[in-house]
Amino acid sequence: EKGGYPHFMIKEIHEQPTAVKTTVTPRIEDGLPDLSECGITPEALKNVNNIFIVACGTAMHAGMVGKYVIEKLARVSVTVDIASEFRYRDPLLGKDDLVVIISQSGETADSKAVLSLAKEMGAKTLAVVNVKGSSIAREADMVIYTHAGPEIAVASTKAYMVQLAVMYLLAFEMAFAGGRIDEEKCRKLTSQLTAMPDIIQETIEKTLDVCQYISTKLITADSLLYIGRGLDYALSMEGSLKLKEISYIHSESYAAGELKHGTISLITDGMPVIAVATQNTLLEKTVSNIKEVKARGAMTIVICDEQADIDREAADYLIRVPRISEMLMPMVATVPMQLLAYYTSVNKGNDVDKPRNLAKSVTVE
Ligand code: M6R
Repeated sequence: EKGGYPHFMIKEIHEQPTAVKTTVTPRIEDGLPDLSECGITPEALKNVNNIFIVACGTAMHAGMVGKYVIEKLARVSVTVDIASEFRYRDPLLGKDDLVVIISQSGETADSKAVLSLAKEMGAKTLAVVNVKGSSIAREADMVIYTHAGPEIAVASTKAYMVQLAVMYLLAFEMAFAGGRIDEEKCRKLTSQLTAMPDIIQETIEKTLDVCQYISTKLITADSLLYIGRGLDYALSMEGSLKLKEISYIHSESYAAGELKHGTISLITDGMPVIAVATQNTLLEKTVSNIKEVKARGAMTIVICDEQADIDREAADYLIRVPRISEMLMPMVATVPMQLLAYYTSVNKGNDVDKPRNLAKSVTVE
């Protein structure tokens, strides 16, 4: 049932190109996003005041990417919250607000409770869910199903990837409906998204060996940092969670520009710092942060695109991914992060698919 792979996680990493294709293709009509089969019309998206994306764990991290992309393209304000925090903070919600709940299982207790709260307060609700017929999918006003297929490994990989794809679809449709981008631009963005399955496949093939090798340098670490700026920061949160949940190495993700405000004091000789540097407009700034940690003894691993001009002095190890538009880089850069986590866990002899203390679906509060 693992299709010849040693673990479900690596099987599911390889299933990502197909998962993206299956999720995106039915939502494109004549080269433009079309979410009408999900009960979403351009009209409904035009009149949204504020968007609240609420979720737990990996799904929340997909929401962080969604925030950047929706705000950038559609110019609507997006707040991202952890479900177990949002529900107890007496949120300000009205009937023109849209609450987006992202959940692979559709059964996460805190996310489910947020959905009920949002409905009680009269907000519009949209669920992005992978499991058909799950509680969250049944109760939300609108549902966009991600079609990742069953995800067995506790560490989410393909479900996150398709959640990202849905965030892009939603951003494109909102931006177009709201008149923030014209048809030509919308077509261009949509065609870039439909090209992703092949590019993800290429990324898996190109980064697998180097990630396997670099993981041998991580197994002895007690603690490491993931750093990035902008979308790379949103992405590094997910990279860090993935690594800690299955490798049991303490890891933290940090906005690169915030290091100097405290965290850089943690850097000691040989401590791994994984820098995500895929955003060209921020590259120079991130590289200067990488040099700062390197100067304090860190072992630096840099994830960047194949054309990025990175000073070899700054990076002990480089992981190059294909270059695509900056906005879509999370869909390629997440692949080496998954592979680093996977191989580190394998090399430590851990139970990769069933890490200690964790359940696939968290149905208790
Ligand atoms: O089923 P959900 O998407 O609602 O689950 C949310 C989290 O429990 C989940 O993403 C968790 O963080 C994963 N183990 C991460 O790999």
